[in-house]
Amino acid sequence: MAKKEIIERILIPEKELMKRVEELGEEISRDFEGQEVLLVGLLKGSVIFLADLARKVTIPCMLDFMSVTSYGNDIESSGEVRFLKDLDSDINGKNVIIVEDIIDTGLTLREVLKVLKARNPKTLKVCTLLNKVDRRLVDVNVDYNGFNIPDAFVVGYGLDYAQKYRNLNYIGILKLVED
Ligand code: PRP
Ligand code: MN
Ligand code: MG
Repeated sequence: MAKKEIIERILIPEKELMKRVEELGEEISRDFEGQEVLLVGLLKGSVIFLADLARKVTIPCMLDFMSVTSYGNDIESSGEVRFLKDLDSDINGKNVIIVEDIIDTGLTLREVLKVLKARNPKTLKVCTLLNKVDRRLVDVNVDYNGFNIPDAFVVGYGLDYAQKYRNLNYIGILKLVED
């Protein structure tokens, strides 16, 4: 039988997201006071979070993007990370903060960290909005963590299911039901 997806419930409403994003922006600005940072967004999931986060950072801040994907259109990670687009800028000697919407197995981040570390940034940090700790397959260090969340399939605020739902202004739990 065909399946369709529904938003089962709201996990994090807009107001809570905004509050936490502001706190993360303040934390980053404090930690790098007197310096500048390069926020590296991993396309496409991070774009909404990155856009809001960047506007809460009060120190000089630059933006760049990388495109990597492991999920395709599936609900489960394929475990294989594909690099689709590299950074435009040279990160040598810079304070780099990788910005992610969610860390699940950690496989995406592990590969990105490996690649960026080799380019000798001054510092290399990780900032994620959501953290699904229970699903971790590989250990990755998270410096700025928005929310720890349970192992449910979440969408919205950048996160997709088959490329949809990224435009929701909240984080919702998606459920597949019989049509
Ligand atoms: C999702 C998410 C993270 C990654 C997390 O990206 O945005 O980048 O998976 O999963 P992991 O920790 O198990 O590697 P996806 O591959 O779906 O691409 P997208 O950002 O374009 O949606
Ligand atoms: Mn992603
Ligand atoms: Mg995705």
